Amino acid sequence: METAATRQATSLPPPRHIAIIMDGNGRWAAARGLPRIAGHRRGAEAARETVRGCIELGVEYLTLYVFSSENWKRPVEEVRELMGLLRRYLRRELDSLADAGVRLRVIGKRDGLDEDIRFLVSGAEARTGANRALTLTVALNYGGRAEIAAAARAIARGVEAGRIDPERIDTALFSAHLQTSGLPDPDLVIRTSGERRLSNFLLWQCAYSELVFTPVLWPDFDRASLEDAIGEFRARERRYGGASRSPARWSTIRPSSGATS
Ligand code: IPE
Ligand code: IPE
Ligand code: MG
Repeated sequence: METAATRQATSLPPPRHIAIIMDGNGRWAAARGLPRIAGHRRGAEAARETVRGCIELGVEYLTLYVFSSENWKRPVEEVRELMGLLRRYLRRELDSLADAGVRLRVIGKRDGLDEDIRFLVSGAEARTGANRALTLTVALNYGGRAEIAAAARAIARGVEAGRIDPERIDTALFSAHLQTSGLPDPDLVIRTSGERRLSNFLLWQCAYSELVFTPVLWPDFDRASLEDAIGEFRARERRYGGASRSPARWSTIRPSSGATS
């Protein structure tokens, strides 16, 4: 069904960077009496469709939260299955991602991952490094606070070695020491499954992102859900601390034409 939001989503330029907290796989499976892994499998398909949708809509950067540094708390069996799914995804999807012009990049702590996964990840990054259609960043064993602490550590070492003047430490220099260095901050963060929190995702980078929460469970997230979220993003007015350009918006929320990135 075409809604006003989907018409908007397709007629205007999209947000440049979309980041997604893909949540609700377990609940999707439980609602069907299936094991949690069945939800993760369908979730991987939703991720595939979302990558395709973003390419078609002209989104330049897509960041997917695949496994948090806190997800190790899950039962060993579920973690093992999630890692198996990731292996298969990296092996099976790499050709089509590369053919579609996707540049793959992984953020998160690599040393916690199995060696073969680290190998697959670095191979995929090397193979797709020159692609430009879409930069797909996969957050894997990722935690925002740990990322910020690691940046602080690297900067402190730079100061100790005399490479960095403490007076020069500003937000740009700090950003350049994060794993997302070179990526623009997300314009739009989507979280599925009705939860309304960031769960340690891109804490620094989301300072001025628009947050869209949808009750849709991740395995059900489709092209229409993506376009709806983009439509909701467009209806926001991004002020970055400035004054509203149209005070009337407080009573009637209308799509904004200028606040695209
Ligand atoms: C998201 O779905 C996938 C990961 C966090 C790996 P969940 O597995 O968190 O699903 P729910 O929240 O239990 O429904
Ligand atoms: C966040 O989902 C992590 C990913 C989507 C990879 P969780 O399901 O782990 O988050 P919480 O525990 O509900 O905050
Ligand atoms: Mg969850």
